[in-house]
Amino acid sequence: MVLLCNSDVFDCIYSFILKQICERIPMYISNRLSLLKPSATVAFTEKARKLQKAGHDVIVLAAGEPDFTPSRAVREAVKREALEGPTCYGPTAGYLEVRQALVEYLERTKGLRVNTDQVILSNGAKQALFNALAALIDPGDEVIVPAPYWVSFTAQVELLGGVVRIVTAESSNGFKVTPEQIHEALTPKTRCIIFNNPCNPSGAYYTADDVRELTEICTGAGCAIVSDEVYDMIIFEGGPYLSPAVVSDEAGELTAVVGGFSKTYAMPGWRIGYLAGPEPWIKKVTSFQGQATHHPSALAQAAALAAMTGDQQVVEEMRQEFLRRRDFLLEAISGIPGLCVDVPPQGAFYLLVGVAGLIEALPDAEGSTDVSTWLLEEAKVALVPGVEFGAEGFLRVSYAASMEDLERAVQRIDEAVRKLGL
Ligand SMILES: Cc1ncc(COP(=O)(O)O)c(C=O)c1O
Repeated sequence: MVLLCNSDVFDCIYSFILKQICERIPMYISNRLSLLKPSATVAFTEKARKLQKAGHDVIVLAAGEPDFTPSRAVREAVKREALEGPTCYGPTAGYLEVRQALVEYLERTKGLRVNTDQVILSNGAKQALFNALAALIDPGDEVIVPAPYWVSFTAQVELLGGVVRIVTAESSNGFKVTPEQIHEALTPKTRCIIFNNPCNPSGAYYTADDVRELTEICTGAGCAIVSDEVYDMIIFEGGPYLSPAVVSDEAGELTAVVGGFSKTYAMPGWRIGYLAGPEPWIKKVTSFQGQATHHPSALAQAAALAAMTGDQQVVEEMRQEFLRRRDFLLEAISGIPGLCVDVPPQGAFYLLVGVAGLIEALPDAEGSTDVSTWLLEEAKVALVPGVEFGAEGFLRVSYAASMEDLERAVQRIDEAVRKLGL
């Protein structure tokens, strides 16, 4: 009795019992999530940035985010919204004014004609993609994913119980899949294809003719298209952009466009993206988002509105700068033994460097992960191994980094490689 009144002793017994219970019954994690890995690009970038913070002179060419800042007008809009805008919940799909601006933007930039019930704003294109897939995929459904692919494509499909069918885009075909390959991959269980143009990580760009051919194969088979178009404003050559959604009326009824503001307007941390597609699809996505997260932040919506309606010169300036960096890298890498770029990227801000020569030259190296680890140690340059994107034998270079960093990185890699006697 006396013991029970003594709160210190009581706490001690209580935590002892709790510890015993916890040690015997491990925390249960669902089967679905226990298999899920963190995003390789996010994990890799975080690791490299931690090294930087700890005082190591590491050059990080791993991140998929522009090294620019949003325009002044966009920043002012966010500030105004924070000081004067409403702070209550808004409509799940996003404010009508922002959706109306998005509808006009889509028509202006890619000739896509939709209404405000056919678009929804989300916390980045990543959420828009997940929403689109969640509304489509039942366990066991097949999803065609051309490789090299962005890491979240396969992870999201698997999370939903879908079966990923990889179709490898060969470097000999410019890292682009052919209509024949897609035709062969289609089965009665195929639910959709995830199409990404221009492509992360290869920078491959499907021309309007390529898109027409691929789209016709898909629509002919009733296969939905989830078209990830987040890099649609960063194209260097290959002609005007064509979205599968505008190829034909039939295609429009089977395609959802995933888009965002992270890349085009340099606002990845503000988390805003969108999905545009057939009304029944968007309606279900809206119910899903309403239950899962609700609308994206009002501040991010204000930023998106200002970005879409503001001066577009900033977009062109960024594109020009990415082009300058790409050209620099292509030339610089061609002079480094053991490295090669088979396919000059035509869009986005990445390139895949072939490292077969280095895998061979490094003792015990088995693949791109070993080369990436070696480069981090020897050259203090962080590049994501291609194996994470379904592109073994390559490393992904992100040139969303300053020219100065790119120059230093190339010099360091060159020195490290030459020490191998290549
Ligand atoms: C192909 C692709 N889709 C979507 C995203 C996600 O973009 P957001 O920042 O809008 O979620 C990325 C980001 O790297 C990407 O590379």
